Amino acid sequence: MLYDLSDDDPGVAPNAMPAEPLDLCWTLSHVQWRFVHATAHFSLLAGGIGSGKTTAGAVRAILRMHRQPGSLGLIAAPTEAMLRDATARTVLQLLPRRLIASHLKSEGRVTLTNGSEVLFRSIADPDHVRGLNLAWFWLDEAPLAGHYAWQVLKGRLRQRGYATAGWATGTPRGRDDFWRDFEQHPASNHALYRAATATNLPNLPEDFIAQLGYSGAFSDQEIYGLFTAFEGLVYAFEPALGGNLADPPSDAHWTEIIGGIDWGYTNPSAALVFALDGDSRVWQLDEFYQRRAGLHETLIPAILALTRRHHVRTWYCGPDEPEHIAALRAALAREGLPASAVKGDNSLIPGIQTIAGLLAPRADGSRGLYVAPACVHTISEYSSYQYPTAERAGRDPDEKPLKANDHALDATRYSLHTHLTRLRAAESHLAAINARLALRAMPNEQEPVP
Ligand SMILES: Nc1ncnc2c1ncn2[C@@H]1O[C@H](COP(=O)(O)OP(=O)(O)O)[C@@H](O)[C@H]1O
Ligand SMILES: [Mg+2]
Repeated sequence: MLYDLSDDDPGVAPNAMPAEPLDLCWTLSHVQWRFVHATAHFSLLAGGIGSGKTTAGAVRAILRMHRQPGSLGLIAAPTEAMLRDATARTVLQLLPRRLIASHLKSEGRVTLTNGSEVLFRSIADPDHVRGLNLAWFWLDEAPLAGHYAWQVLKGRLRQRGYATAGWATGTPRGRDDFWRDFEQHPASNHALYRAATATNLPNLPEDFIAQLGYSGAFSDQEIYGLFTAFEGLVYAFEPALGGNLADPPSDAHWTEIIGGIDWGYTNPSAALVFALDGDSRVWQLDEFYQRRAGLHETLIPAILALTRRHHVRTWYCGPDEPEHIAALRAALAREGLPASAVKGDNSLIPGIQTIAGLLAPRADGSRGLYVAPACVHTISEYSSYQYPTAERAGRDPDEKPLKANDHALDATRYSLHTHLTRLRAAESHLAAINARLALRAMPNEQEPVP
């Protein structure tokens, strides 16, 4: 469907100036077109990956700025990386240059010639946007950003003299609070739009969907954009502060910094960083998670950046790609970074037991594994990595989880299971040596006093 910016559209912005005719048109899919024209105060475009969600959100934002001169809007994404590489990038590709009066990259602020302004913000800490008075906002990948971020943004819609609206786009993440608000018990001012990946086939690489190879509940979510209940979860991860989510204490003293890598291409590649404290607790500090990340162009540079940022000493890598490990090792050496890259242990069931043990609450309520809230993809996998058999009672003890939603979690297993098993082995070796020494010392100590 051809969409012309200069079309009159009274539904969007009652206080807009007459739109100047623009020599720019977009061809939108039917659902993109409907979402761009949504009139509900709050709307969500739930869609499969590559279904054109970000494009629709961006077109809508551009129209809004154009039609509401002098308005202030906010475009947000879960992390800096997603904001920069996907959300803001799409907006800047679509926004006609001649509408831009200034673009302050360091501030993440674009001003249009009509006086409208838009701020680009990562919502890793939603409280950072408190204090703004917005006419509109758009949250991309909203289910990953979390419902709390959406709630905070809703409270910012109060620029005087403007009709306000907030919209979200994203692939669903289980039956969360977005599901509740938009589908289960939709409020009157909430509208849900849905786009399957197939609605955007002409704009995707050939065989995109077939290559993903998804099936079942995972395909319902990732390809059809449905809110899916994930049953039979592998890990009892509690995605809340006070549960398994926490930023590390600022005065933390780390005994070790390690990383885990799961190699992908059609599936996402994941590189995670973990810090170990002296109290046998592990803190996930950071994540890189991206589909179609080329090894030399994207993935290795990202791993080098993580190595520098966090002083990673050992990368435990998926053992299935020895050449990738060699390439990483070479890159670390070339950059003079004192880090090694080794094969991770891929024993599935013992690995799952190690991670499950770390996640569980201890007697004092603390946990052995915390994940920083900014690691949105890892958190999302914890709430969707599942066994084929939902009921624990009916499950064979050797049943393997479904091979989906496991990229960050495989990287977790490679690093933590391998590293902790080595530590335990070293400790028991030490204990054995100490015991032998003690035995040798014993006869002397026990000599009868004359
Ligand atoms: N209406 C459209 N016209 C042309 N290309 C489009 C359109 N919608 C999406 N695309 C292209 O399809 C790809 C996926 O779109 P994107 O908006 O990034 O999807 P999503 O955010 O759902 O993953 C991108 O390359 C984008 O440029
Ligand atoms: Mg997108």
